[in-house]
Amino acid sequence: MKFHLPRTRKALAAALIATTALSSAWAHGDVTPQAVDTSTLPQLGNKWHESNPYSSGPARSEALRIGTSAYNQNCARCHGLEAISGGIAPDLRKLDSECMGYADEAKKNACFKEMDDFFLATVRRGRTRDGRVYMPPFEGTLSQEAIWTIRTYLETRREP
Ligand code: HEC
Repeated sequence: MKFHLPRTRKALAAALIATTALSSAWAHGDVTPQAVDTSTLPQLGNKWHESNPYSSGPARSEALRIGTSAYNQNCARCHGLEAISGGIAPDLRKLDSECMGYADEAKKNACFKEMDDFFLATVRRGRTRDGRVYMPPFEGTLSQEAIWTIRTYLETRREP
């Protein structure tokens, strides 16, 4: 049987190969920030929340699923896979370590909320010191929903 691949099919196949090559590059943490699909989560509107709305409740597991991949695509290249820093950037497992020292649950949760606010501000604005960009700003690249899914992921990586 003779089979002619139509031109468009060929082009499509070539495009597919190119996309596959690109996505495998991303899997290793390319420099291009990645858009994150959060359409399966409750949407948060235009106002910035001060603490993580996905931290507890029914949306948490979906937020964690999305956040794990969003972290790997956007943060791991500096902060390390599974948030284990290789030394280039702070180890984000330790971000809440001070809070974890509180025996009192109410104090601990208040501390986590303060860290939520600090986390949000850092990710939105990035970090520039003496004119050098240590961390790029993610506002405009990542939605509020995406940023909180990453926080949800990091909550599972907390260490004292
Ligand atoms: C280009 C590398 C780079 C990328 C990408 C990056 N960061 Fe950072 N991040 C840094 C560096 C470096 C610092 C420390 C900056 C400083 O010393 O002021 C930092 C600091 C932080 C801090 C504050 C930590 C502390 O203890 O003060 C948080 C939170 C953070 N990053 C979260 C993230 C998240 C979440 C992402 C992904 C959305 C991300 N970063 C992507 C390099 C990066």
